[in-house]
Amino acid sequence: MNKNKSQSFSTRAIHSGYDASENEGALNPPVYMTSTFCFEDVEQGAARFAGEQTGHFYSRISNPTQELLEVRLADLEDGEACLATASGMGAITATLWTLLSPGDKIIADETLYGCTFAYMQHGLRKFGIDVEFIDCTDIEAVANALTANTKAVYFESPVNPNMRVMDIQAISQVAHDYNPDIKVIVDNTFCTPALQRPLTLGADLVVHSATKYLGGHGDLIAGAVVGEKAVIDQVRVFGLKDMTGAVIAPLTAFLILRGLKTLELRMERHCKSASELAQHLQQHSAVESVYYPGLEDNPYHALAKAQMSDNGGMIAFELKGGYQSAVTFMNKLAMIKRAVSLGDAETLCQHPASMTHATYTSEERTTHGISEGLVRISVGLESIEDIFADVSQALESA
Ligand SMILES: Cc1ncc(COP(=O)(O)O)c(C=O)c1O
Repeated sequence: MNKNKSQSFSTRAIHSGYDASENEGALNPPVYMTSTFCFEDVEQGAARFAGEQTGHFYSRISNPTQELLEVRLADLEDGEACLATASGMGAITATLWTLLSPGDKIIADETLYGCTFAYMQHGLRKFGIDVEFIDCTDIEAVANALTANTKAVYFESPVNPNMRVMDIQAISQVAHDYNPDIKVIVDNTFCTPALQRPLTLGADLVVHSATKYLGGHGDLIAGAVVGEKAVIDQVRVFGLKDMTGAVIAPLTAFLILRGLKTLELRMERHCKSASELAQHLQQHSAVESVYYPGLEDNPYHALAKAQMSDNGGMIAFELKGGYQSAVTFMNKLAMIKRAVSLGDAETLCQHPASMTHATYTSEERTTHGISEGLVRISVGLESIEDIFADVSQALESA
């Protein structure tokens, strides 16, 4: 098995965990399209079920193609172990159902991807878990929210959709100083391990929507959680096996392995184009504000520089004409697609208030920092000249 930490990120994204000589010389890993695995005898089956012997027995728990993806993602995130799931929400829910019980508390940042927010606001609370949403950019507020029953602190960085950046090291430190058992969980979807590795900054668990940059081609839905093996094992045998059943399909795991081979290369292009587009937008007379950590006057610029190797491919902005101008701008886009999701080859533009964050009421959006006029762009891999041209012609009417 090739797992060589001295190798660079891209090399590991291509090779880690796979040995062609163990697979008939196949350059690419076989896709194990099987639901079950045969036992030599009853004793072997019993030993596998009891966890006394390693080996696959049913693909709701593990599968060799899934396992290769897990080994590779754990390696790229500098984690001990990984569980790949059927969706990002599958990873988030399997993890939190495992860690939390009625009476426990979770502290979460006030702005989260819409369905993560809905799961906490309506799902976790319904089952007697205390959820406190606070501004996690305020370290003192995090410290003040910690209580004896706090089991987890959860946030995204950068945040979907308003691009705030959290100080992962400071939050982890304050939580662990209070109680080393508190799990600090970071949604690393916007950065990917190519730009940011939260576990190296003190976080305990990283979750992903692998649907986005990890897959990279807009052709699958998947997720992952990475962290300490003992915790990931629990998430697998409880959160995944018994609670959510959000199992990744072997073919999906294969497609993510394929996507990972070009992850670093793609991220370089996403970041470069996003940086150029953010500057272009900032200079445009129709634009009120641009939220992109790469901009020198962005309040999170220094923090992003310290914990991310580049600024990512996501931009949010507001137009001077507010909501109505946002709608006009978006409807005028020609090459750029009006679609949710992100991290694809295609540039995608969406309106969080009416789409990804429609799970918040309008009052909640106001208190949780999501403005009605906000527009979010996932900058794709097309040539920057074509992206500029489309954005510029759409801005003329905005
Ligand atoms: C930051 C973030 N986390 C989690 C998710 C959920 O992932 P999935 O759609 O793969 O379930 C999304 C989806 O957009 C997201 O943007």
